[in-house]
Amino acid sequence: MKSVSDLGDLTGKRVLIRCDLNVPLDGSTITDDGRIRASLPTLTQLLGAGASVVVMAHLGRPKGAPDPKYSLAPAAKRLGELLSVEVKLASDTVGDSAAEVVAGLSAGEVAMLENVRFEPGETSKDEAERAALAEKYAAFGDVFVSDGFGVVHRKQASVYDVAKLLPNAAGTLVKTEVDVMKQLTETPARPYVVVLGGAKVSDKLAVIANLLKTADTLVIGGGMVFTFLAAKGYEVGKSLLEADQIETVKGYFAEAEASGKQIVLPTDIVVAPEFKADSPPTVVPADAIPADQLGLDIGPESSAAFADAIRSAHTVFWNGPMGVAEWEAFAGGTKAVAQALTEVDGLSVVGGGDSAAAVRQLGFADDAFGHISTGGGASLEYLEGKTLPGLAVLDEQEG
Ligand code: 3PG
Ligand code: MG
Repeated sequence: MKSVSDLGDLTGKRVLIRCDLNVPLDGSTITDDGRIRASLPTLTQLLGAGASVVVMAHLGRPKGAPDPKYSLAPAAKRLGELLSVEVKLASDTVGDSAAEVVAGLSAGEVAMLENVRFEPGETSKDEAERAALAEKYAAFGDVFVSDGFGVVHRKQASVYDVAKLLPNAAGTLVKTEVDVMKQLTETPARPYVVVLGGAKVSDKLAVIANLLKTADTLVIGGGMVFTFLAAKGYEVGKSLLEADQIETVKGYFAEAEASGKQIVLPTDIVVAPEFKADSPPTVVPADAIPADQLGLDIGPESSAAFADAIRSAHTVFWNGPMGVAEWEAFAGGTKAVAQALTEVDGLSVVGGGDSAAAVRQLGFADDAFGHISTGGGASLEYLEGKTLPGLAVLDEQEG
């Protein structure tokens, strides 16, 4: 994988770059600009090298047609503020507006194409359709830089196919993220503890199976924990439950037992009668969740135990909140886990756009952690041992 510095003299060159600017929005207000900030170092480097820059990015999952709700306008504006350079947003992705904006660029200037997912070819499963779109992207640059770590697990035209058409390199964000992922997968200082939360077990099946081989301890919270508690034979009341995953989870228990790994589950749960921010919370033992209540966070005893497990590790990876962290009454577990990560003597990694936004919203500073990954799905797939198309293509095209 080449670096930007391997691309040679960029003076007067036009650099086409894929960034992940998929930020959470409330209407047109960005609620967490972490991914935009994370894209600054490479952009600044390119502009400093005398290049002009054409940014490709996506927002959300529009259905392959322009939809103002998914416009990159808020991201373009914020990026411009942070770079102190106007970001000229085209009104289309590869149409007349894009061609005009790109043709008018001078060294040191930045253009952005509208949401790449407004083009049906971007996410198409048809290679030829993707390749045809990638040709249009490639016409906008002399070289291609891949810096959207959050999308490198997607085999999409602006991530994968375009890299085959231009001299390419990984940007500093992708390089940094891959370095951290390598530390986690190749030589983690032990004990290596992985904390998983979030709603669905089924999303995390493959990564759990692989982590049972690579990590020493798996700590489980969040909505998916109720499937684990159910697999222990506990009643979980009205809590989230994926009944069809219970047998798989039992298999994890057996595998952990056989290989001497630990799966740490909560011993107490914060329950409430309804899924509402102001629903009255009660703490109950994890094996005594009342039938008319649902679990919305791990309890204080579990928070303390999880924090101990985390602090005793030399490598920690965490993905997914422990409860409904955006609601004060159910944020305790997530806060405790985040706090413990800041106290790790070793490498602590917060994985994922959503987890990263959650810790910032809880008031933690980015530099309190060893690394905050901008990629949730991408980092999980990396830990799963999968080949990520957006990274593999950079290696394939080398030389
Ligand atoms: C993300 O938000 O996880 C990335 O931007 C990728 O988005 P996607 O899951 O819609 O491909
Ligand atoms: Mg996501």
